[in-house]
Amino acid sequence: MEQYVIKGGNPLVGEVDIAGAKNAALAILSAAIMTDETILIENLPDVRDINVLLEAIAEIGAQVERVDKSTVKINGSTIGNLSVDYEFIKKIRASYYLLGALLGKYKHAEVPLPGGCNIGSRPIDQHLKGFRALGAEVDIRHGAIVAKAENLHGSHIFLDVVSVGATINIMMAASMAAGRTIIENAAREPHVVDVANFLNSMGANIKGAGTDVIRIRGVEKLHRTEYSIIPDQIEAGTFMFAAAATGGDVTVRNVIPKHLEATTAKLEEIGCEVEEFDDAVRVRAPHKLHRTHVKTLPYPGYPTDMQPQIAVTLALAEGTSIVTESIFENRFKYADELSRMGANIKVEGNSAIIDGVKKLTGARVSAPDLRAGAALVIAGLAAEGVTVVDDIVYIQRGYENFEEKLRSLGAEIERVSSEKEIQKFRLRVG
Ligand code: UD1
Repeated sequence: MEQYVIKGGNPLVGEVDIAGAKNAALAILSAAIMTDETILIENLPDVRDINVLLEAIAEIGAQVERVDKSTVKINGSTIGNLSVDYEFIKKIRASYYLLGALLGKYKHAEVPLPGGCNIGSRPIDQHLKGFRALGAEVDIRHGAIVAKAENLHGSHIFLDVVSVGATINIMMAASMAAGRTIIENAAREPHVVDVANFLNSMGANIKGAGTDVIRIRGVEKLHRTEYSIIPDQIEAGTFMFAAAATGGDVTVRNVIPKHLEATTAKLEEIGCEVEEFDDAVRVRAPHKLHRTHVKTLPYPGYPTDMQPQIAVTLALAEGTSIVTESIFENRFKYADELSRMGANIKVEGNSAIIDGVKKLTGARVSAPDLRAGAALVIAGLAAEGVTVVDDIVYIQRGYENFEEKLRSLGAEIERVSSEKEIQKFRLRVG
């Protein structure tokens, strides 16, 4: 098991390049199997979730050729197996995107039912409701979702909750269903738009992605394309808060500033200066940050995936802040870890009440999930002394070269895998 060991206290300063969006890539790689022609995908993040999904895609018989770290070629003409193995869904829930992709192309898919996860129970009833509306018979058999149809047909679907996953999964299947589909109350996240743009570049006919009504005219066939994935707004936001919490000055490059507006607005509210360029954002943090309140919401609201990062930053801001989580019920698991570093944070229901403290002190903490893990790294970077973050396997799911990028900004952080290495680091940093 690997850990991060961090000596805090250095303001982060410099420039950092952001990778492609993991959550867009997971859906786009799945959709790439929907044609028998070869798809080239660029700006792929080199993170664990993506590598696992590529294995799952190869396992069902598609040809996957990794051209380089951020480029892959996929050819779905050789798919011989419409059933995805549990081993993959256990590692990444998002392999459920293969359900929409296989159902759209072959009118048949079998994918194990994903269980709950660290951030809460995560039903997929809206995905299934959408597939049924398109004419599929959907059953749960021996722990797997089996979706089958003679023919898929367009439908008018009203989602009961705003769901990124359901919007994308239905959009994929509907792209190859006969006639017109309308998805109402659709998610508007940038990666929904990116997947729609990708499918359109393969010959699909999707309009309205980015609004809450998406209209799809089904086509019989999709074709080859070359596509570059949008930058990762959550990775970018994480570095922006790392700059804020450490009193730093960081320019995040290769971003779409529009996608970062909710994060930028909160940083400005707490006293940071944020400067926007065409494809970069510079965050300069003052010595003292102020309190604010924040509630997570579907896009364009403040993202749930940025909730732990702002909470850690507010732990060091003057005054009392309230952070309310309205998307997932179990996303404050890091609060106890943060308390061990000296934060004054109390969770009541779906809110955390945070009284800012003057400083955090290094401690041994565990990453409870991907984004909370990244937030604990930010806490370690801002804290006095040495912090050890255990279970960084979660962080590696979604951050490419995290420690290298942080080091390039002046952080003292190392990835280690033994107590001996931790001791060596402690001795070195004094
Ligand atoms: C995606 C992101 C995740 C992010 C989340 C919210 C990926 C791979 N993951 O997850 O990082 O935190 O969006 O922005 O893109 N819900 C239902 N029934 C459903 C589907 C969802 O009740 O069928 C509920 C969920 O429990 C949750 C809310 O809807 O409360 C939003 O979930 P959803 O947008 O679907 O999240 P994911 O697509 O799983």
